[in-house]
Amino acid sequence: MPNRVLIAPSLLAADFGRLREEAIAVEQAGADWLHLDVMDGHFVPNLSFGPAVLKALRPHVKMAFDVHLMIAPVDPYIAAFAEAGADHISVHAEAGPHLHRSLQLIRSLGKSAGVAINPATPPEAVGQVLDLVDIILVMTVNPGFGGQAFIESTLPKIRVLRQMTDASGRKIRINADGGVTAETAPRILAAGCDTLVAGTSVFGAPQYGPAIATLRPAV
Ligand code: DX5
Ligand code: ZN
Repeated sequence: MPNRVLIAPSLLAADFGRLREEAIAVEQAGADWLHLDVMDGHFVPNLSFGPAVLKALRPHVKMAFDVHLMIAPVDPYIAAFAEAGADHISVHAEAGPHLHRSLQLIRSLGKSAGVAINPATPPEAVGQVLDLVDIILVMTVNPGFGGQAFIESTLPKIRVLRQMTDASGRKIRINADGGVTAETAPRILAAGCDTLVAGTSVFGAPQYGPAIATLRPAV
């Protein structure tokens, strides 16, 4: 049976002066996970926030914290994010030479482990770690900024990844991250994603409930 489609609003597009209210608002609007983008100004050309922000938000919402680490090195910080309240921790395949070790570390802390891959990275980058992975985070824009246009050439890659995860026999979610809108979501889901990360199309909308609902497939 295919996985239920989940919607993960990205806090990067929220009003940073009202993060608690924004997190509560998307939860009440039907969000499944809260996606948290961590940037270091080195692996990606932007800075965002660290574990202290997760820790401050954690008591106020129940949604799973889906943490996307765009940082290198990543291993020295994984435990801090686990302690701060992350439920899922995704690291980039491109962030260092020891992806397998990073995933082992995440799992040893009892968290769901994810691998993120940039638009230029082939699907084979996750082939040798499928046994350690709960989430594949397909970057459908170049990481670093919200509000960019969806990159269409990621669709065939999503199809290949879905074949790989189906063949693995493991339950692995495939997330699309970047440029997810009501217009692009149907194509992304048809290609094989089951989780949609959406920043601008949720937090930029006048009402979060309808914005989230419109990303879900029609039943
Ligand atoms: C980009 C981040 C995304 C970003 C998506 O590096 O990983 O999560 O917030 O933003 P939108 O939905 O606006 O493309
Ligand atoms: Zn992200």
